[in-house]
Amino acid sequence: MIILGIETSCDETSAAVVEDGNKVHSNIVASQQDLHSKFGGVVPEIACRAHTDTIITVIDKAVSEASIKMSNIDAISIANTPGLIGALLIGLTAAKTLSWILKKPLITVNHLHAHIYASKIENEDIDYPAISLVVSGGHTSLFLTHSETNYEPIGGTIDDAAGEAFDKVGKILGLGYPAGPEIDNISLKGNEKAIQFPRSYLKKGSLDFSFSGIKTAVLYHCMGQDSRNASEIPKLTDQEIADIAASFQEAVVDVLVDKTIFAANKFTSKSIIIGGGVACNSRLRQKLTDAATRRDIPMFYPSKKLCMDNAAMVAGLAYHKYGEKEFSSLEVEAMP
Ligand code: KG4
Ligand code: ZN
Repeated sequence: MIILGIETSCDETSAAVVEDGNKVHSNIVASQQDLHSKFGGVVPEIACRAHTDTIITVIDKAVSEASIKMSNIDAISIANTPGLIGALLIGLTAAKTLSWILKKPLITVNHLHAHIYASKIENEDIDYPAISLVVSGGHTSLFLTHSETNYEPIGGTIDDAAGEAFDKVGKILGLGYPAGPEIDNISLKGNEKAIQFPRSYLKKGSLDFSFSGIKTAVLYHCMGQDSRNASEIPKLTDQEIADIAASFQEAVVDVLVDKTIFAANKFTSKSIIIGGGVACNSRLRQKLTDAATRRDIPMFYPSKKLCMDNAAMVAGLAYHKYGEKEFSSLEVEAMP
């Protein structure tokens, strides 16, 4: 079963050809990072124009790299929620058009479920139920995953997403966008105990997250209490930046690890899965793996290419929806 996947929910235009849910024949990702970096964040209008400009080339490349013909494709899949509405619509329109022309079923998937599924592409032996944490630029969500196609939401952020906190703190520290990978790197030279930033756990037993407080705490730390003019942050030495980055990262990682492990115990999960861009973070991978191993729970995360937005995770998940005959009509809509 050969499925073409398309992903345009944010600032990556991606298309992939995946066979039987895990054989990735191609996974083309056209990143728009350079277009957005000078604005310090994703500009929706620019994202939409770039998706429109590149989507056909990206699909063509995915098909030719997989050495197949369009007529070999058994189904077209697309992430139609959540994301930037204009960006989602471009991928969805391309997917609907191909489904109509090729007379093949259309399968819509949830982008967050696809981030969780990404681990399954490289690890056949994930047992369910699993506690799954999606940490990306737009989301921090916990799911109780019952199967490849059944995801029960059990917690999420009430304000900033984890990746958004990394990117905003990066801006305070004068780093580039997106700042997550740089904070990860710089932290290796910093002392994570240098500053005790607050860890927000919300109500006892809560599986929700809040990261806006820590971002403000970093700003106050850099500015003193007078943070009104955030553009005038006093010059920091490289070591100060490394210490702040490492201390901030440690606080975010502690909360993510503690809540994920709490959920795994609460629901007696057989596995822990992480996905999304922040799942590339080396400290998160290390601390969560250590905590899971101590409790004898197998922990899974995808390789870096499959952590970031990509269409292979979409086509892989769609294979299981195909098995359950979960098809969408051409009237299906995009939901932000
Ligand atoms: O999943 P993704 O590619 O796009 C969204 O769906 O948002 O995630 C992008 C996010 C950005 O906020 C970026 O800063 C963050 O993932 N990120 C990281 C790392 N690599 C990417 N955050 C922390 N550590 C990293 N190594
Ligand atoms: Zn994503």
